Amino acid sequence: MKLLVTGGAGFIGSAVVRLAVARGHRVVNLDALTYAACLDNVSSVADSPLYAFEHADIRDRAALDRIFAAHAPDAVMHLAAESHVDRSIDGPGDFIETNITGTYNMLEAARAHWTRAGRPAAFRFHHISTDEVFGSLPPDPAVKFTEDTPYDPRSPYSASKAASDHLVRAWHETYGLPVVLTNCSNNYGPYHFPEKLIPVVILNALAGKPLPIYGDGSNVRDWLYVEDHADALLTVVERGAVGRSYNIGGENERTNLELVRTLCSILDRLKPRASGSYADQITFVTDRPGHDARYAIDPSRIGAELGWRPSVTVEEGLERTVRWYLENEAWWRPLQARQGVGERLGTKA
Ligand SMILES: NC(=O)c1ccc[n+]([C@@H]2O[C@H](COP(=O)([O-])OP(=O)(O)OC[C@H]3O[C@@H](n4cnc5c(N)ncnc54)[C@H](O)[C@@H]3O)[C@@H](O)[C@H]2O)c1
Repeated sequence: MKLLVTGGAGFIGSAVVRLAVARGHRVVNLDALTYAACLDNVSSVADSPLYAFEHADIRDRAALDRIFAAHAPDAVMHLAAESHVDRSIDGPGDFIETNITGTYNMLEAARAHWTRAGRPAAFRFHHISTDEVFGSLPPDPAVKFTEDTPYDPRSPYSASKAASDHLVRAWHETYGLPVVLTNCSNNYGPYHFPEKLIPVVILNALAGKPLPIYGDGSNVRDWLYVEDHADALLTVVERGAVGRSYNIGGENERTNLELVRTLCSILDRLKPRASGSYADQITFVTDRPGHDARYAIDPSRIGAELGWRPSVTVEEGLERTVRWYLENEAWWRPLQARQGVGERLGTKA
């Protein structure tokens, strides 16, 4: 398959690019290279004859038309987005333009390409989204997000992703564009940009800095190893039913405090402090405005219909992730100098 992957220089997109090339797909990586991007994430495939890079912005419709015409993809995997909730609180404008208008441009450019090609039934527009569109769950472990959970986004980020999901469904219903959608829980793993919780905790721990926990640390997230997400995404683009959405999750619910304590105990084992535990560096800070209490995915549809399940337990995945950061300082150190990284963001509500 020839895949046009947007956002392929980011955290999840780059995992998709690496896995797709490893599986023999041809990949065109379209990315604007924002502050969150790093082309080193795909250096392992950059010289492959299966790989091409297009430096372009999804807000630029003319650039998208040129790229569709030049590469004639069989499928689009649309991951490009502004993705950091705290940044969306301080400056929602970029989220509206990239996540909503950018997705609209992608849909229109894809529709024009698909129409020119004679509306092939095998074409796919795969929209990659988040479980955050469903809002916040009560503590009851029996209650989880299914594909039928009503949308209830509560941050500028999740609202912009919800809007983009609605556009994708509308382009299927109205124009017949063959779309598939996925909504995934929190990802973690190698190449995670050092402004997100897990890398912040690992890198602050190593630097002897406080490990910031928002509020009382009781917010629950459902964690999935990024390479398992990439595998799920390729499963859906290859075999997902047209017009259908699939929830993807690892069934690994943890409170933020539990997660940070687990990371500290892994670090205590792999790189012990001179004295005491990294957990001594935990510091509680003012909560994020509108902080959703709990996310939890019911992934039974993708399991039952497409046979996908995660391959890595959260214990294995977190240990692999900590080891990766210990071994890859040359990757993360320069990124810490980028704008806003290491600062407390998301307080301007
Ligand atoms: N990180 C998670 O836990 C998670 C969970 C579920 C879904 N998602 C979704 O997966 C996708 C990827 O998330 P991520 O964490 O890898 O994000 P990321 O911030 O690491 O990467 C986003 C990439 O998109 C690119 N990009 C941003 N704006 C662009 C624009 N206007 N034009 C072209 N490229 C642009 C960036 O340069 C970057 O390479 C997003 O759509 C996000 O909503 C993320």
